[in-house]
Amino acid sequence: MENLRLADFGFVEGINEIIAITRNADGTWNTAPIGVMVEDSSSTSAKARLYRSHTRENVKREGIMYANVVWDAEIFAIASFDDLGESFFESLNPPVLRNSAGWCKFRAMLKGAYANLELLDGEILRREIRTVNRGFNAVIEALVHATRHVILKDEKMRKELLEKILYYREIAEKCGGEKEKKAFKVIMDRLR
Ligand SMILES: Cc1cc2nc3c(=O)[nH]c(=O)nc-3n(C[C@H](O)[C@H](O)[C@H](O)COP(=O)(O)O)c2cc1C
Repeated sequence: MENLRLADFGFVEGINEIIAITRNADGTWNTAPIGVMVEDSSSTSAKARLYRSHTRENVKREGIMYANVVWDAEIFAIASFDDLGESFFESLNPPVLRNSAGWCKFRAMLKGAYANLELLDGEILRREIRTVNRGFNAVIEALVHATRHVILKDEKMRKELLEKILYYREIAEKCGGEKEKKAFKVIMDRLR
């Protein structure tokens, strides 16, 4: 594909929360929300900070990371804790989740704590108009804290995270729809 730009796939300057899809050693797909950091959206270069995870291991081994642009709160919630099984995909090659607005393929090279990403290919599948929904945003914020909560041992920090998660739950309940409520069920089940 010629003249690719990150902006063509919805990436903006700042951090873009997408579902990263990487190939596991057994050939299945791994899914996890990851923040793709963009300085210049008219370019093809981005990076992601990758903590210890399956995503990081897969990037190290394969050198490729796909991104799906997704507006489904429940998908974000499930992918935060588990891998999305094949029934969540509308295509396995390239890996595309159902109702994904688009997908991108990046060359991904680890450098220290980061992966340098270079856009190689991609496709826009759905151009949907959408308003800002505080419920969806609250789910994303809660998930960032919840993914830390499940790995931290320190009781004080866990308690602080839980308080933040419960704050976002109120917003999700008030402003969100069915998907946001289902996403919160996934979160609360994990915290128990
Ligand atoms: C909105 C959101 C953004 C995230 N961004 C990152 C990130 O940029 N880097 C990272 O290492 N983990 C990030 N995480 C946490 C991972 O998604 C989480 O640790 C996940 O369980 C990793 O799954 P894996 O082991 O299958 O790769 C993020 C989580 C959420 C909810």
